[in-house]
Amino acid sequence: MKKSRPQLPSVPHHVAIVMDGNGRWAHRRLLPRVAGHRQGVESLRRCIRACAERGVKVLTVFAFSSENWNRPSDEVSGLMDLLATALTREVPELKSAGIRLHFVGSRTGLSDRVRAGLTAGEAETADNSGMVLNVCFNYGGRWDIAQAAARVAEAGEPMTEESLGRAMALAHVPDPDLLIRTGGEQRISNFLLWQCAYSELFFSDHLWPEFDEAALDDALMAFAQRERRFGKTSAQVAPNRSQALA
Ligand code: IPE
Ligand code: IPE
Ligand code: MG
Repeated sequence: MKKSRPQLPSVPHHVAIVMDGNGRWAHRRLLPRVAGHRQGVESLRRCIRACAERGVKVLTVFAFSSENWNRPSDEVSGLMDLLATALTREVPELKSAGIRLHFVGSRTGLSDRVRAGLTAGEAETADNSGMVLNVCFNYGGRWDIAQAAARVAEAGEPMTEESLGRAMALAHVPDPDLLIRTGGEQRISNFLLWQCAYSELFFSDHLWPEFDEAALDDALMAFAQRERRFGKTSAQVAPNRSQALA
């Protein structure tokens, strides 16, 4: 019997995900790593739909890091091909689902085909008003801070938290409320270093290709049980709960 979806007292506005574990998923099946990445695309399709159904407003996924260029060249070219193919295949569906696509990261070093695909995918979905999907590709948190600082300096503005925040690559959305990393590792790996200052962290042992609706619901349920204090005390942010415990 299909498990019914749990009632969530609160849903994070912005969920960010480090989609890790594709290589291990493939290795366990004696498949090439790129087969794991291909399955990872299927998992992302499922996750996009599930997040939209649950009322998430912004989903940001880490698809290729600044450091992933250091992988074997056949894996890097396999990932580039996969992105270009996925864009051609998926953009019409994203468009009809009302999803607005953004690519976040450096476009330097990407092929003309990939660059053209990114630009077309963004343009095709620009008028959509549903969930925002940020795909971080050729992205690094340090790159983001450095490019923001360079833009602020070029504009001749004073370097403040506000001016830097406005120049960061995700300035079009609020900071992530929940950061999920699949694949069992508990590290940031140069993802959203600036934006995750107050995100709740959730580490899942599921490999990314196996991260299904139930695994997403576990993360959302854990989030709903967290108390976000942003530096304040528990009594300040949840006076009723603190009185009940006193
Ligand atoms: C994440 O899966 C996808 C990318 C980094 C592109 P991995 O390829 O890192 O999978 P593991 O960690 O080797 O299992
Ligand atoms: C992080 O995963 C990058 C992406 C998921 C795109 P990695 O597999 O590259 O991270 P490390 O090398 O294990 O830290
Ligand atoms: Mg990995």
